Amino acid sequence: MSALFEPRTLRSLTVPNRVWMAPMCQYSAEATGPNAGVAHDWHFAHYAARAAGGTGLILLEATAVAPEGRISPYDLGIWNDTQAEALRRISDFLKSQGTVPGIQIGHAGRKASTDRPWRGGAPVGADEHGWQPVAPSPVPFADGHPVPDELTVEQIREIVGLFAAAARRALAAGFEVVEIHGAHGYLIGQFLSPHSNHRTDAYGGSFDNRTRFALEVVDAVREVWPEELPLFFRISATDWLEDRAGWTADDTVRLAALLQEHGVDLLDVSSGGNAPDARIPVGPGYQVPFAARVKEETGLPVAAVGLITEARQAEKIVTNGEADAVLLGRELLRNPSWARHAARELGGAVHVPDQYHRSV
Ligand SMILES: Cc1cc2nc3c(=O)[nH]c(=O)nc-3n(C[C@H](O)[C@H](O)[C@H](O)COP(=O)(O)O)c2cc1C
Repeated sequence: MSALFEPRTLRSLTVPNRVWMAPMCQYSAEATGPNAGVAHDWHFAHYAARAAGGTGLILLEATAVAPEGRISPYDLGIWNDTQAEALRRISDFLKSQGTVPGIQIGHAGRKASTDRPWRGGAPVGADEHGWQPVAPSPVPFADGHPVPDELTVEQIREIVGLFAAAARRALAAGFEVVEIHGAHGYLIGQFLSPHSNHRTDAYGGSFDNRTRFALEVVDAVREVWPEELPLFFRISATDWLEDRAGWTADDTVRLAALLQEHGVDLLDVSSGGNAPDARIPVGPGYQVPFAARVKEETGLPVAAVGLITEARQAEKIVTNGEADAVLLGRELLRNPSWARHAARELGGAVHVPDQYHRSV
């Protein structure tokens, strides 16, 4: 028997296995017009293939709660009903394969309005469908990035409401998991970290103040998200800033306990993204210890992510109790049927579409 292919129940939702797909932006929607941010054939084919490949849960890419919250002008959005309707086609297909459909909702803050990564990812202006970004403080992300507008308290409250509206639309679009994007130095992460949050009001300064926006978003989403369905939160466990002021692994454990009290069911533990010059010791499973520590010290279920590529590596993370599930990113881009191959190697079972029965 393989622990990786055991189901996992969160609230009333049972996920068929522990091989989950990490959210990955496709930067492939239209930038403007009535179909701005609307999923189309590329998104459908991309997610459908990973569902047919036996992935237990798929988290759709960072989907913006507002146009200004997009990382690039080509991101998916969920700020209107046309966008939500287009996503239903994907969630329906995922369910038809026994895959749990989840979606990450986010706001990019000062890291918004950049070009697609394969075109260099530099900030774009109005001539390239860009806009003026907003942030907790008027501090640019990096050289060459614009100084963002500092959000007023009224604007912060509006964005909290936009997260709730996005979650409501995600539910209407058939999703069974919603993940709040609190990682990688996007808006929520910008509030958490003293590196990017220099405010002196109720949203900056102390730990309680810097975490206020995150917890307000969680409360607003939890209020509209059904009791029986799980809510995930993605965090960057550390900014990797060593001796400079930043968000740390200790902060993550402290916040994890609060997130649990506020109704978060699983912490998706990533790292980095808030400072371009952070030194990150990247290697196989390098973020797993952060996930394991949160689980150990708070009891909150966690998912581990980052350079998890081998079946036995993933199996060990789950059997050791370091994480409840693994999230795979790039490896699932390389191999949409990774779960199926891993099940074969480990003696587990996954859903195989009838159409592929001759390949079992
Ligand atoms: C093309 C691409 C797009 C990504 N987009 C997102 C995203 O939308 N939201 C997010 O939280 N992380 C995003 N990530 C990070 C992944 O979710 C994941 O954490 C990271 O790739 C490390 O896992 P891996 O080593 O299995 O790829 C992206 C990564 C890639 C490669």
